[in-house]
Order: sequence, then structure tokens, then C-alpha cells
Amino acid sequence: MNSILVTGGAGFMGSAFVRYLLREYYSQRVVVLDKLTYAGNLENLASVAADPRYTFIHGDICDAPLVDRVMAEHHIEAVVNFAAETHVDRSLIEADAFIKTDVYGTYVLLEAARRHGVARFLQIGTDEVYGSLERGSAGEGDPLSPRSPYAASKAAGDMMALAYHVSHGLPVMVTRSCNNYGPYQYPEKLIPLFITNAIDDQGLPIYGDGQQVRDWLYVEDHCRAVDVVLQRGRPGEVYNIGAGNERPNLEVVVGILQGLEKPWSLVRHVADRPGHDRRYSLNWGKIASLGWRPSYPFESGLAETIRWYQENQGWWRRIKSGEYADYYRRNYGHRLTTS
Ligand code: NAD
Ligand code: DAU
Repeated sequence: MNSILVTGGAGFMGSAFVRYLLREYYSQRVVVLDKLTYAGNLENLASVAADPRYTFIHGDICDAPLVDRVMAEHHIEAVVNFAAETHVDRSLIEADAFIKTDVYGTYVLLEAARRHGVARFLQIGTDEVYGSLERGSAGEGDPLSPRSPYAASKAAGDMMALAYHVSHGLPVMVTRSCNNYGPYQYPEKLIPLFITNAIDDQGLPIYGDGQQVRDWLYVEDHCRAVDVVLQRGRPGEVYNIGAGNERPNLEVVVGILQGLEKPWSLVRHVADRPGHDRRYSLNWGKIASLGWRPSYPFESGLAETIRWYQENQGWWRRIKSGEYADYYRRNYGHRLTTS
């Protein structure tokens, strides 16, 4: 039976996609390749760990011999590349790992996919590559204008993927999504950081005036969008994935505080993020024409997310207490495999 390789499948969006595939497709085999950086967490995949259709491989997408072996041994038919360094703030401190994983790692995957005749290669991109928009919405053909080392490395990964389609005929598709939110998101990102801080009555650090606008997509909707592009997308094409939920950050904070019945006095205005993009906005008519629409209104997605963080405090407290590395080795070390 052929398999899908999900790189970065132990992270927030990758693990949601793995759970989605195994839930929706009875005969699908899924191979996860993940380096388990600070953001990767096998707890995110605990619910599928015993599924015979699922294999976890601990490894780096930059490791060409390993990637080659994985593709050969597991008869990989499709690749969905979620693996990346993803946090803008970290890229402002140290960009090295971003360039290695998001650019070079993407190249390693593309090369291996080409050699092994992979039938579909989906590169998970981001709306940040279009840069900050004062007005209007970015279409797939608009020029790229990445403004952080993270966004620049993601743009380079996209370009490399599309070049492999043109140069080598590799059936590559690129998706560019807006901000995702939902269960299992690492609590350094706005929504999980603020929910977990507010549960503990800690301050909520709003960068600058808090009027920056993001479009918020519930992660389950993203999984369906990726599935639609995998099934119906055209090789060589880019698909924007938007949500129609553009909100200034302060409005998101109001929703979190109301959902948790916590006071506004927790809000702290702190120094702005350097080069902070003011607004992202996507025109996502192209994926809509493939039949995809988001199904979660922001209010219900946020309520579900708040409930998840309330009910799964062990998950994020282990991360936030800094004991996660030890906990992880103790609990999961014996289950790691290297191919
Ligand atoms: P995440 O930070 O939660 O997880 C990233 C995963 O990649 C982790 O499991 C990590 O261990 C793994 N990884 C990192 N470097 C690796 C390497 N060299 N080899 C193998 N695995 C490695 O990320 P996320 O928020 O789930 O984002 C997933 C993808 O979606 C990324 O490509 C990101 O750029 C993109 N994206 C994210 C958002 C968002 O809102 N989170 C929006 C649009 C696009
Ligand atoms: O737009 C898609 C991108 O969304 C993805 O490509 C990235 O991987 C993902 O990290 C996310 O990037 P953002 O920078 O938009 O997400 P973040 O959660 O870090 O911040 C969201 C907004 O909230 C942004 O305007 C910065 C602001 N913010 C964030 C944090 C962590 C704050 O005001 N305070 C904070 O403490």
C-alpha cells in the first residue's frame, strides 16, 4: 500500500493533518518524519500512536540519505511538507535554523521526491510571503515581499518547490495559508499564549498598539483545504487559504478574555515586534473554486480552542514549565525510531 509522507507531522498543523487523514481515509498509510524540535511533540500524535497505518520516524528533512531511505522503504506516493521553523519572533533572534529547514530542507525533500517519482508534492506555505498589505487582498500571482527572516525563508522554499515543477516536471503544489489556531498549538503563538497566560492570571503582552490584522483559520478547516488541494489541485499552482475572519489583535484578545471571564487589566502593551507586519489578507477565490470553504466561524473555533486549553492543562503546563524536554525523553524516548 502506498503512503503519504507528512514532514513536521508532530507539530501543530502537521499533527492535525495526520489525525485528519487517519480519521477520514480508511486505507491511508501515513509516515511522519519529524526532527522533534522544541515545537515537535509526540503527545500531539498520541491518539494515533497505536494505529498500524501510522509510522513515526525521528529525523531531519535536511538529512538527504535519511529522506531518500524513507521515500524508498515506505513507497511514498505523496509528500506534504509542514516541517519548518515557524515563529517570526525566533527568526528575529536567530535565523540560521529557518534557512536550513525552510529552504535547504525543502530542497532535500524535492530532490528525493524527484528521484523517487513522487506523484504529488504539497509545500505548505504562508500568507506572510506577500508582506504587509495596507489595503486589498493578495492573489496568488502577486509579487512576494517577505519582511522577516521567517517569511523570506518560506518564500524561498515556495520558489524552490515551484522551480522543481518547471525544471523537472515534479507535480508540486503550494498552499499559502493565513494564521491557523486550535488545539495543540505551541503556546508561544498569540492565541495559545494568551489563553494559557489568562488562565493563570498572567499578563497578556500586546505588541505595539494591537491594531495589527490577521485572518484566523481553525486548523481543521486547514486540514480539509490541504486535502482538497492534494486531490484536486493542479501541479505548478499556488493556492491561497484564507478564512474571512480578519481581526485586529486587540479584538482577538477581547474574545479570549470574554471566553475565560478574565479582566481587561491583564492586557499589557509592550514594545512592538521589529518590522511588525500590519496586515495580512488573502484572496482565496482559487481554492473556493475547487469547492473548499472554511466551516468554523471564528467565535465557535475560539470557544472550542479555549475549552481545549482549559481541559488539557497538562499538555501546555509541561511545555511552559520548561520540564518538557525531560518529560519527553522519559515518556517517549523508547518509542523513537530512526529509519
Ligand atoms: P510548528 O512549529 O507547530 O511545527 C513545526 C514542526 O516541524 C515541528 O514538529 C518540528 O519538530 C518540525 N520540524 C522543524 N524542523 C524540522 C526539520 N529540519 N526536519 C523535520 N522536522 C522539523 O508549526 P505549525 O504552526 O504547525 O506550521 C506548520 C507549517 O505551516 C509550517 O510550514 C508553517 O510555515 C506553515 N504555516 C503555519 C501557519 C500558522 O498559523 N501556524 C500559517 C500558515 C502556514
Ligand atoms: O500568517 C501566517 C503565519 O502566522 C504563519 O506563517 C506563522 O508560522 C505563524 O507563527 C503566524 O505568524 P504571526 O506572526 O502572525 O503569529 P503570532 O501568533 O506570532 O502573532 C500573531 C499576531 O499577534 C502578530 O500581529 C503579533 C501579535 N503578538 C504575538 C505574540 C506572540 C502579540 O501582540 N503579542 C505576542 O506575545
